[in-house]
Amino acid sequence: MENLGLLQYHPTVYVFDREYQLLIPMTHSALCWVQVGDETYYDHCAGIMRTDTLLHRVYVPQEVLDRAGSYTVHYRKMLERLPYDPISEDTVSFTYSFKPVPAKEARFCHLSDVHDCIDLAIQTAGYMGSYDALILNGDIPNHSGERAFLLEILRLTSVLTKGGMPVLFSRGNHDTRGYYGEHFGDYCPHREGRTYFTFRLGDIWGLVLDCGEDKEDTYPAYGHTAAFHPFREDQTRFIKEIIAHGDQEFDAPGVKHKVVVCHHPFCHVPKAPFDIEQDIYKEWCDLIGAHIQPEVFIAGHTHVPGLFLPGGELDQLGQFAPVVIGGKPCKKSWKNLEAAYYIINEEEIAVTIYEDTGKVTHDIHLPMEEA
Ligand SMILES: [Fe+2]
Repeated sequence: MENLGLLQYHPTVYVFDREYQLLIPMTHSALCWVQVGDETYYDHCAGIMRTDTLLHRVYVPQEVLDRAGSYTVHYRKMLERLPYDPISEDTVSFTYSFKPVPAKEARFCHLSDVHDCIDLAIQTAGYMGSYDALILNGDIPNHSGERAFLLEILRLTSVLTKGGMPVLFSRGNHDTRGYYGEHFGDYCPHREGRTYFTFRLGDIWGLVLDCGEDKEDTYPAYGHTAAFHPFREDQTRFIKEIIAHGDQEFDAPGVKHKVVVCHHPFCHVPKAPFDIEQDIYKEWCDLIGAHIQPEVFIAGHTHVPGLFLPGGELDQLGQFAPVVIGGKPCKKSWKNLEAAYYIINEEEIAVTIYEDTGKVTHDIHLPMEEA
């Protein structure tokens, strides 16, 4: 067992917009800050360093960490936070090397719909070749009924990335449920509750969307706790803003690939009561298809891994790109967990889907069109 001091796990380096959000879980109250080259980034609230938390979050500009290639986490165990002369122990430091996603060819481990089978997901990722980033695409815990379930996300990222590569996170419908659903943001990247964003990793530009729950807000099982309709309307406005600034987003210099990442493949209308928000999801499909034209839609949720082409069984609202479903849970009748290994380069997007036995269930190749 490696000695991490008061760090409960290795940091998780979430990518969000053009920044990294470093999540640093600890086992004791502490002051925490991160050094990147000559720059220091503190976990603070309006200048006050936070200690009333075991989950520290430090924001680092993406280009700064990409250039530096390493960072150092510093902490001081807080013994007593007095109004004058607070008492803390000496500074402890851990340095991590960090590798940004390279241009020309990028490799990803994609997990979705793990539904609490964290160790089986780790086992399945072990069959894959090396990867440059981890994609968590929703429903990693089965629900948010206990904080321990959410902390498992950070154990998963710790084991698979060791703090040394970016993690791309998209929320799933199960993540929203339970006592701690409203605290889910403590464990994932966001800005003031905004869990949808764009990202750059290597020469890939991406749009992450968040459909929230999969049934109407008024569905009885939610017991008046859901308000996802206005949250989805906000995302319609967000997509339009991105399109209005396409030259800084998907048409920016250096972008060679465009992808959409969302737990729910929203071009698909499932049977009732899951057949919700068709007007909104149709508008998303139309806007993305007309203006962004991504090469692939990276999804999960259906528990049926594989490639689904426009015009096929997932296309009811104007599918704008091939959908790849890259995850399947292990519980009940599904038997074997599945996870996807992506290689994106100038020639193709190749996806190999593994089950937890190591068997390859799908070998998908999407050739790139000549520019
Ligand atoms: Fe789901």
